[in-house]
Amino acid sequence: MKKLYAVLGDPIAHSMSPAMHNDLFQLYGIDAHYQPFHVKRDNLEDAIKGLKALGVAGFNITVPHKESILPLLDKLDPLAEAIGAVNTVVNENGTFVGYNTDGAGYLRGLLTELPSINDKNVLIIGAGGAAKALYYTLAHSGVHKLDIYNRTAQKAQTIINECPYPISSTVIGLEEAEQNLADYQLLIQTTPIGMSPDINKLPLSLHNLNADTFVSDIIYNPLETKILREAKRNGAKIQNGLEMFVFQGALAFEKWTGIFPNTERMKTNVLAQLG
Ligand code: ATR
Repeated sequence: MKKLYAVLGDPIAHSMSPAMHNDLFQLYGIDAHYQPFHVKRDNLEDAIKGLKALGVAGFNITVPHKESILPLLDKLDPLAEAIGAVNTVVNENGTFVGYNTDGAGYLRGLLTELPSINDKNVLIIGAGGAAKALYYTLAHSGVHKLDIYNRTAQKAQTIINECPYPISSTVIGLEEAEQNLADYQLLIQTTPIGMSPDINKLPLSLHNLNADTFVSDIIYNPLETKILREAKRNGAKIQNGLEMFVFQGALAFEKWTGIFPNTERMKTNVLAQLG
């Protein structure tokens, strides 16, 4: 019987995951279908019960449900539990198990451009859910120092305080971040700044950016945010959010099927959807 996979979110109409995963099912000859479902906050619990009753094989969870789904699942992967957010659920013999592939997806994508992140000083801009997933993943991935700059410093401090993996970390202010950019070999932009319609906004000034700093933005629409354009002009290497999106999907697909899929093909699929 055809297996059903899904993505639950609000909004969901513009999700690029269905076409990406359905293309992979076809490519690997898997008799399955991936369906988007528009689920409002108040309906999440019923939706999860429904998926369970229907025997759905696995699903993704996106905004705004990544955190509120935790108590609705039967089991949590330790990293997802530590992060407090789930983006991928696997139906393991009737048990819904929650994982978070966002951080690992980011790291896998990054490593397609950087040989290693060992011993690097990293600055994360932002302290929302995505920043937290990246922080936790990088904290146990061998980086040397992991600082956060966020508009609301307290949110950055909470991420640092609650992280179970010991790492040298400081919350830094805007001026300090701008002045000391050259101290970092990796700069990660996780806020919505630079997304449409505010495409000409920067989260901080890049005047002191060094060409040796690798700058990544988790935004992929637009493909080149202002921070990436400016970083490129300063001679820095850049990466947009396409890799993170593709690799978080690839890791979810692997959990569901046991196959780590062709990420170049996934990237082509997403680029075609972006138009
Ligand atoms: P997600 O959970 O999807 O990562 P989020 O929770 O909306 O996204 O987090 C967005 C992050 O971007 C937050 O760190 C937020 O800063 P605050 O903690 O001060 O709210 C940051 N952010 C969003 N809009 C911003 C803006 N206009 N200027 C500066 N920071 C902004």
